[in-house]
Amino acid sequence: MSESNTPSASAQLYQRALEILPGGVSRNTVLRKPNPLYVDHASGARITDIEGVERIDFANNMSSLIHGHAHPAIVAAVTEQLHKGTAFSEGTEIEVRYAEHLVSRNAGFEKIRFVNSGTEAVMGALKASRAFTGRAKIAKVEGAYHGQYDYAEVSQNPNPTNWGDVDAPNSVPVAHGTPPAALADVLVIPYNHIERALALLDQHKGELACVLMDLMSHRVGLRPAEASFVKAISDWARADGALIVLDEVITFRCAYGGAQTWYDLTPDLTALGKFIGGGFPVGALTGKAEVMNVMDPLAEVIQFPHSGTFSANPITMTAGLTAMELFDEAAIQRVNALATRAREGIEEAIRSTGITACVTGAGSLLRLHLKEAPPTNYREAFWTPEERRQLTWLLDHLLAQGITMINTCTAAMSTAMGESEIDTLVSAMESGFVEIRNR
Ligand SMILES: Cc1ncc(COP(=O)(O)O)c(C=O)c1O
Repeated sequence: MSESNTPSASAQLYQRALEILPGGVSRNTVLRKPNPLYVDHASGARITDIEGVERIDFANNMSSLIHGHAHPAIVAAVTEQLHKGTAFSEGTEIEVRYAEHLVSRNAGFEKIRFVNSGTEAVMGALKASRAFTGRAKIAKVEGAYHGQYDYAEVSQNPNPTNWGDVDAPNSVPVAHGTPPAALADVLVIPYNHIERALALLDQHKGELACVLMDLMSHRVGLRPAEASFVKAISDWARADGALIVLDEVITFRCAYGGAQTWYDLTPDLTALGKFIGGGFPVGALTGKAEVMNVMDPLAEVIQFPHSGTFSANPITMTAGLTAMELFDEAAIQRVNALATRAREGIEEAIRSTGITACVTGAGSLLRLHLKEAPPTNYREAFWTPEERRQLTWLLDHLLAQGITMINTCTAAMSTAMGESEIDTLVSAMESGFVEIRNR
């Protein structure tokens, strides 16, 4: 409320939104108390809300904007394409050019199909795995977020009351009414614990179409997977005939060919999304030609017919290609170095203030935990009620200091940032830590 007791423009807008959008929002992550922020405009690293308040944007639409907002080259290329049309029932040259660019970034990307979201990319990868292997079940890591497909979302957010035995985690549904058959067809394995994961996988020999993994899952704690864990799981999958599917919807930003290039591993399929759309809705599935060819409509038997009205639309393709050409090795090194500066600066602030906290992440990402040690799995990363309270307070503090973060206290850097933005983040964190310590 302002001094005159007139609700703010945002509060008024939220009241209208509550009438027609469930919860007043179109996606739950926008929600915050007392009302969501509503953006008026944004440019580069800065976002301005409808109250006229400007902030540095470390959320970057949930990590999907690698060059920040309204990058001039993307705006120019998309504007030109807008005049030529936005979506056709036919193919376009730009879709072929963009496909060529993406497969050139990683030798394991032999063929590619575009879709409209990360959810769709993961869904397509799971369906392609089933079509290729003729098996129904999948394995996934407890707590990992892979979008909203029934199978991929199993045990996305379990809690101590329902996650079950650590040696045999429950398949916990996200939505009420999830078909029991979907739960039965998903094996949930713990992250970074080789013996437990292998013991569970061994119970499903010959049954799994794939093992789905994110090599640095945001929700599992944003900690890179142990190389020994990745090797053990992929060796098991190879021996068993199950495919390896990587979800690089977030982590592809971390290295030129994706976080998978940090490991000695060639997945069968990789799901991509978020920043490869240059700011527009996107997803892609890519990988070995023999697996991708289950989608081949020229085959005598099409094992996995696949389409989507807006898939490979020329606006997304134009924005995506422009963004990714700009995101070359030098740009990646620069933005990753900014994140390293932030992680080190925050770690120093933790030391100097003496609060209980730690930082995880790699590449251009970081996440703050109000925990003594970096969590190695979902159960360790799970917030206690006190941590939830403190983190909510800290996110509000950062907002008041002119900084937006992803609501898990995660930051995704953009190439629009420089050292001064990073230093502003570090000092805002530090002042927050001082207040937390003195409470
Ligand atoms: C790792 C990962 N996979 C898949 C998805 C789903 O992507 P989308 O929201 O575009 O459907 C997300 C979204 O946050 C994600 O973080």
